Amino acid sequence: MPELQTDVAIVGAGPAGLMLAHLLHNAGIDSVVIDNRSRDDIAHTHRAGILEAGSVRMLEAAGVDSRVHTAGHRHDGITIRVDGTSHLFDFPELVGESVWLYPQNEIFVDLAAARERTGRPIHYSVSDTRLGDIESERPWVAATTVDGEELRIEARYVVGSDGSRGPCRAMIPDTTRQRYFHEYPFAWFGILCEAPPSHEVLVYSRSERGFALISQRSDTVQRMYFQTSPGTDAADWSDDRIWTELQSRVAGPDGFELRTGTITDKTVLPFRSAVTEPMQHGSLFLAGDSAHTVPPTGAKGLNLAFADVSVLAPALISALKDSDAEALAGYSQTATKRVWKAQNFSYQMTRMLHADPGQDAFETKRSLGELHSILDSEHGRRYLAECYTGWPNG
Ligand code: PHB
Repeated sequence: MPELQTDVAIVGAGPAGLMLAHLLHNAGIDSVVIDNRSRDDIAHTHRAGILEAGSVRMLEAAGVDSRVHTAGHRHDGITIRVDGTSHLFDFPELVGESVWLYPQNEIFVDLAAARERTGRPIHYSVSDTRLGDIESERPWVAATTVDGEELRIEARYVVGSDGSRGPCRAMIPDTTRQRYFHEYPFAWFGILCEAPPSHEVLVYSRSERGFALISQRSDTVQRMYFQTSPGTDAADWSDDRIWTELQSRVAGPDGFELRTGTITDKTVLPFRSAVTEPMQHGSLFLAGDSAHTVPPTGAKGLNLAFADVSVLAPALISALKDSDAEALAGYSQTATKRVWKAQNFSYQMTRMLHADPGQDAFETKRSLGELHSILDSEHGRRYLAECYTGWPNG
């Protein structure tokens, strides 16, 4: 049975786990990373594609050889369309920041390559992941490797960056763990298509038929979404039906038209908000989706995961190198402050832009009033631009 000794055992090789492994490595701290998915699975999972300026700075500062500046695109704003009329948010003018369009799976590829260059392991495709002794100073993680061998990792700390369905969160005892959950009465239908961009920036559209988002991937591939009901079966939607629906949700007096093309992927995405607190217990620390899920409307998921790591990495480094565990003790409190700001923004964007099938006419009018309070006000536009481009840490 391979038994590994390390400083930090990291469960989950998504962007949070790999960014953490990289920052620790830069500080001379060892880690072992495991994931129950294969490398290919992670690299081909479509997730949101917007990076806050702070996330880009983190990639740069970490020295990850990221292609964000070559394969990604800087976006200086977004457009919000309301019943067919466009409102442009110019981020540099409003808050002096921009965001970058760079899909999460590309970030994974960059971070996995950076990890491979260090020669330190990522064990993919493990099964039956367990952990224990998290209240001690010698917690362990065990799993079965892809070759059927039993792997046991002994560490000083364990980090659960194992996503919303991983086993780490449940290790925090029920008596201290709180789960906050909000269900929304809709889902998103997402497509990838071979077409040129329809607009310079992303278009978030509120219409009587419901929400649509026109996002992008490259000069030749686009990502688009529209609000649908949670029980939707993607197989019931022909390409023609999808284009008609999307077009009707962005149509307006200015004649805005989508550039269409072959649809290469159709997926229905779940839509929910959840937070687990505290994000730590004993020697176990949670980061990213294992502790919180946001609806995709604010594009905050990956950015929040990176924000967690930007707090957790220096705290682990101080604890391991200088025996100063004070920052580590305050990790959950520091991280959850931002988590709730992101929950609020994602919720607010969702409520302002979607049509809730069960809502009364008052709520429809009220949420339009909320949206106009932002669109029609310099302060409101700054507020939205600040939330979208990301808050400073701390
Ligand atoms: C995406 O490109 O996948 C995307 C962009 C912005 C969002 C959500 C998803 O708010």
